[in-house]
Amino acid sequence: MTALLSERERSKFDTSSDDQFYDQPKLVTHADNGFLRRLQALYDEVLSSNDRVFDMMSSWVSHLPSREFQTVIGHGLNETELERNERLDEYFTQNLNRTQQLPLSDQTVDAVCCALSVQYLQYPSEVFAEIARILDAGGVLIVSFTNRMFPHKAIRAWREATMEGRINLVREYCEAHGFTVSQCIHERPAGDPFAAVVARPTWLL
Ligand SMILES: C[S@@+](CC[C@H](N)C(=O)[O-])C[C@H]1O[C@@H](n2cnc3c(N)ncnc32)[C@H](O)[C@@H]1O
Repeated sequence: MTALLSERERSKFDTSSDDQFYDQPKLVTHADNGFLRRLQALYDEVLSSNDRVFDMMSSWVSHLPSREFQTVIGHGLNETELERNERLDEYFTQNLNRTQQLPLSDQTVDAVCCALSVQYLQYPSEVFAEIARILDAGGVLIVSFTNRMFPHKAIRAWREATMEGRINLVREYCEAHGFTVSQCIHERPAGDPFAAVVARPTWLL
């Protein structure tokens, strides 16, 4: 598999295990209310009620619109956070910087949401290959982010990039695995900037 990042680009200031950092639950929101409302509106626009949703790198909130989905599977690093998340039908914990293979079968989800977290992935190529594997035909991937982060845990390539550079990086992660990017959004200059990349697995059409 092509390594999208060099060792230098994937390096973090804090080299201790991510499990340690997420050992204590962080029951906070990681962006302002304007950002969160915009994200929920995007999910409302892009997701269908019948979707099997995978909320990757989740926490105690999933930002999903209030309507029901067929199922919502959560993943994160802290069990207490995931237990508190009322939108999840099931969940699992897994450190994606240690193991990238997801415990989900091929083509079994319709939507993968990854909010405010992609900057922590040190092996995005392997993780995006897994996302491509589990997404079903007609599925969608929505990666959203702002300029906030835990800087000691974000990869160097992210820390040193502008918001436009970060959008391009996520686009690169998607396109390296055959996704077609349908939307790149960058807005809200007054609050926490809202950025999102929406991509679709066109190889299954
Ligand atoms: C800033 S929080 C965002 C949580 C949630 N998506 C939200 O929108 O509030 C970052 C999340 O990334 C996930 N994360 C960070 N490092 C990780 C790693 N090495 N493996 C798996 N997940 C990780 C954790 O689930 C953590 O809650």
